[in-house]
Amino acid sequence: MSAPRLSNIQSRDMASLLHPFTNLTALRQTGPLVIERGQGVFVYGGDGKDYLEAMGGLWCTALGWGEEELVQAAAEQMRKLPFAHIFGGKSHEPGIALAEKLKEMAPFPVGKVFFANSGSEANDSQIKLMWYAANARGQTGRKKIIARDRAYHGVTLASASLTGLDAFHKSFDLPFDFTIRAACPHYYRDARPGETEEQYSARLAGDLDALIRREGPDTIAAMFTEAVMGAGGAIVPPRGYHEAIAAVLDKYGIYLVDDEVICGFGRTGNAFGCQTYNYQPDSMSIAKALSSAYVPISAVLLSPELVEIIEEEATRIGGLWHAFTYSAHPVAAAVALKTLEIYERRDTFGHVRQVASVFQQRLAALRAHPLVGEANGVGLIGAIEMVADKRTKANFDAKAGVGAAMGRFCQDEGVIVRPLIHDRIALCPPLVITEAEIGELFDRFERGLNKTLDWAKAEGLV
Ligand SMILES: Cc1ncc(COP(=O)(O)O)c(C=O)c1O
Repeated sequence: MSAPRLSNIQSRDMASLLHPFTNLTALRQTGPLVIERGQGVFVYGGDGKDYLEAMGGLWCTALGWGEEELVQAAAEQMRKLPFAHIFGGKSHEPGIALAEKLKEMAPFPVGKVFFANSGSEANDSQIKLMWYAANARGQTGRKKIIARDRAYHGVTLASASLTGLDAFHKSFDLPFDFTIRAACPHYYRDARPGETEEQYSARLAGDLDALIRREGPDTIAAMFTEAVMGAGGAIVPPRGYHEAIAAVLDKYGIYLVDDEVICGFGRTGNAFGCQTYNYQPDSMSIAKALSSAYVPISAVLLSPELVEIIEEEATRIGGLWHAFTYSAHPVAAAVALKTLEIYERRDTFGHVRQVASVFQQRLAALRAHPLVGEANGVGLIGAIEMVADKRTKANFDAKAGVGAAMGRFCQDEGVIVRPLIHDRIALCPPLVITEAEIGELFDRFERGLNKTLDWAKAEGLV
């Protein structure tokens, strides 16, 4: 293939940036899409085009682009106190106020809040704190952590080990052997003929029970879950699933760590995904929409019982030797506080419930499309899975690159989506999206889908 004609900024990019999560062969042909600015649910490229950002960036820009109140909150905090830490007995008002607010909002009893900067750091901190708590209780054998096939919990050494997608392990010498794998709850693909969602959930809970007994309950510290699995395919759980799983963990004294990095703050129509799916965790990871992604910040919310155990141990050994320079960074905390205030003042989660029906109807209507096997979602998150044969549900050969083609065609049509494993295409727009914008999103998306179908026919794939 001939060398692509790249703009100056694209050439600078290609010479300097190591691109993650990117097909580098394809990138060398096309160059990157350089985004210059954003407003509302749209971003604008250096190519002069507007793009409806149907992924809210990376499942995170909940208030959309150009939210002036967040800019002001950051600027004011920068002027007043751009940095302060919470090591060695120091503290500051934005950090305290944010921890208080999160305790108040949390859907389960929270003793204290630990801050970090990313979802991966929050989940790494969770793993360390689970081990710390188990050791403190004299249960030193509890080292294993259960995570599910196709889970996504991040990319740091420990969180990537929990991530249940091979691509994140290959050539990295991962996963570490503390991870044990439970099944991914994907009703469309894995339910047996005639099995109801409830029966499928009960079967998965039974399988989890058997896994725990096989491994030995005393060897397991915790299980991580996402209410809706994000990067693993935007998979909504079958009815009754989370309740059934939580009951099994409870039986064996295994902590439930709820990774709400995507689902937290309105995504599923309630403040937290665990409220939509009716389960109570022992601890929770949050990030992304906590600050509408305007600045990096994440947090771990811990039950009072866990806090008591952890603080007793920290007292005994002379301190909790775990935190980051930027834990509770005052600028990030101020922006997060303002974000939470906006959610409340504008009833953003109520807005999600209101527009979700239009979003879900348009999504469900795609089931009639010749390429679409599954189209499913909740609130303002969802996905389609493109299949080679709708009747047998056969996937395309991964090498055919159908998902990637759909991503490209959608981008050509002015809508940014995310191709995931098994030709699943995720949608997760900013929570502030209006009904008219949802219409525009799906109009563009359908044009992308039709182009993908034409291309797949031309390639002899269907
Ligand atoms: C559920 C979940 N957990 C953890 C992470 C990791 O977050 P980060 O990329 O901020 O490290 C992500 C990122 O998408 C996620 O979706």
